[in-house]
Amino acid sequence: MQELAVRPEQEQEPKQTQTQAQTQAQTQEPEPQPDFTSETYKDAYSRINAIVIEGEREAHNNYLAMGELLPDHKAKLADLAKMEKRHEKGFTRCGKNLSVTADMDFAREYFSQLHGNFQNAYKEGKLVTCFLIQSLIIEAFAIAAYQIYIPVADPFARKITEGVVQDEFKHLNFGEQWLKENFEASKAELEEANKQNLPLIWKMLNQVTEDARVLGMEKEELIEEFMDKYGEALSNIGFSGPELMKMSAAGVS
Ligand SMILES: [Fe+2]
Ligand SMILES: [Fe+2]
Repeated sequence: MQELAVRPEQEQEPKQTQTQAQTQAQTQEPEPQPDFTSETYKDAYSRINAIVIEGEREAHNNYLAMGELLPDHKAKLADLAKMEKRHEKGFTRCGKNLSVTADMDFAREYFSQLHGNFQNAYKEGKLVTCFLIQSLIIEAFAIAAYQIYIPVADPFARKITEGVVQDEFKHLNFGEQWLKENFEASKAELEEANKQNLPLIWKMLNQVTEDARVLGMEKEELIEEFMDKYGEALSNIGFSGPELMKMSAAGVS
């Protein structure tokens, strides 16, 4: 009789654990995937895909331009440019795979201000500003967007994006390293360039909030991820905590 009284308790324990595990698995289960074939999805994808393609093109051209300003690193920067060209081709295939025509006019307009700022800096020989725009802002923006996109991407695009994001981390690191080595001489220009360019990122994020949401990407997550990567880079370069706070705030105002 005693044995019988004990047994149910012993049996109950693994049952409870199982239920907890099941509940946990349910809460950790990923969001349902979007319908990649719906017209709504494809319409939003035509703009987001175009932005990504244009961003990679911009990155390719920017690294070649930076190579002109930094002859010592010209070969390395040409390598980075080559990687960006590969990314552009990969993302072009992603659009084709979903039978989507990328809206390149929209994307060129989308990047026009950031593009203009980079071009002005390049013409004035302001290499540090070029580094901030391309190596920190554009790379951190790309990493944030790609990382948020990967879990909700179609299988074809997911595989491509996973490969690309590894490269973008290398690009961010390259910029970080150079700016760290030249921190004292670059500091003032970095602060000014941050003030000029960070607000553009908020504007650009606001412009695509709806399209990103259709693809399963939330603006708040994108902002958080971007600030995380951008702030970390600035900190690695040598900015202090209070300086970082000031620079983030300058971007918002
Ligand atoms: Fe890229
Ligand atoms: Fe890159």
